[in-house]
Amino acid sequence: MCEFLQFPLLSSLHTERNIGCQTGTLATMMQKLYLLGFLTSFLISATDTQPTHGSLKPPKVQFQSRNFHNILRWQPGSALTGNGSVYFVQYKMYGQREWKNKTDCWGTTELFCDLTNETLDLYEPYYGRVMTAWAGSYSAWSRTPRFTPWWETKLDPPFVTTIQVNTSLLVLLRAPELPYRNQTGKNTSMENYYDLVYRVFITDNSLGKEQTAYEGTQRTVQIEGLTARSGYCVVAEIYQPMLGRKSPRSEQRCVQIP
Ligand SMILES: *[C@@H]1O[C@H](CO)[C@@H](O)[C@H](O)[C@H]1NC(C)=O
Ligand SMILES: *[C@@H]1O[C@H](CO)[C@@H](O)[C@H](O)[C@H]1NC(C)=O
Ligand SMILES: *[C@@H]1O[C@H](CO)[C@@H](O)[C@H](O)[C@H]1NC(C)=O
Ligand SMILES: *[C@@H]1O[C@H](CO)[C@@H](O)[C@H](O)[C@H]1NC(C)=O
Ligand SMILES: *[C@@H]1O[C@H](CO)[C@@H](O)[C@H](O)[C@H]1NC(C)=O
Ligand SMILES: *[C@@H]1O[C@H](CO)[C@@H](O)[C@H](O)[C@H]1NC(C)=O
Repeated sequence: MCEFLQFPLLSSLHTERNIGCQTGTLATMMQKLYLLGFLTSFLISATDTQPTHGSLKPPKVQFQSRNFHNILRWQPGSALTGNGSVYFVQYKMYGQREWKNKTDCWGTTELFCDLTNETLDLYEPYYGRVMTAWAGSYSAWSRTPRFTPWWETKLDPPFVTTIQVNTSLLVLLRAPELPYRNQTGKNTSMENYYDLVYRVFITDNSLGKEQTAYEGTQRTVQIEGLTARSGYCVVAEIYQPMLGRKSPRSEQRCVQIP
């Protein structure tokens, strides 16, 4: 029992004299254990105790990813009421031992950090983590869940252009691109990474009723047999069958058939 009380953390707090080891009754043992438990919990939370209500630790640290543009986002700790807090960001690939500093976000006052360049291997899982400093106190690190860009990135809507020829409408679709060029300096389409299905919807404005005009993998769609002197609007989305996920809808393109 006495050895147990010579806990290195307690020694460092100079409490071993107060606790002592001379007495041996069960009651004093219980008191010592109670004190030890109290001190241990105090020491564990000591990195994150000021101020006393709430925590400096940023909750909800997570990646938000669109078209492989990977942004780490977080919220201020519940103890932060005013300004003056700064944040520190680290990241690593799953399986690596060392966390790396994100220099651009070391001491940032923002609540986000662009980690696109640090998460370029789209099939590998990554972690990010954030620590807060405020009024001379440092929080513990707050870590994201595992983040694999290929599984988690969300696609923007397709770009849609329309060309009207008499009573038919040509709809040209283009998938979003990656936020960086590939090794040969070319823009790279999401089509290089996923099987994409395009869906085109058309609304006859006089009827106000939307129909599916096309669903498939082609990027050029011809819609024929439109009614003269009618207005139509088309809108498109991308569906990813493997992930069971669809993009938001594109902007509407509207035409008037002469
Ligand atoms: C924090 O800073 C912002 C912008 O500098 C300011 O508008 C706001 O009033 C400040 N809030 C507090 C609580 O000081
Ligand atoms: C991260 O930055 C801190 C503070 O500048 C430094 O002490 C630490 O060694 C750095 N870590 C790495 C892995 O570079
Ligand atoms: C990513 O790297 C590119 C090329 O080195 C650079 O131009 C860009 O500013 C970097 N982006 C971020 C957010 O660090
Ligand atoms: C469009 O309609 C006009 C008149 O009906 C016709 O002469 C012309 O060939 C048509 N254009 C196309 C590209 O079909
Ligand atoms: C490549 O992407 C950039 C940025 O999105 C864009 O400005 C440029 O027009 C694109 N180039 C081509 C050839 O599509
Ligand atoms: C770069 O992108 C272009 C256009 O998508 C593609 O033809 C080329 O093969 C790519 N190069 C590399 C090295 O990925």
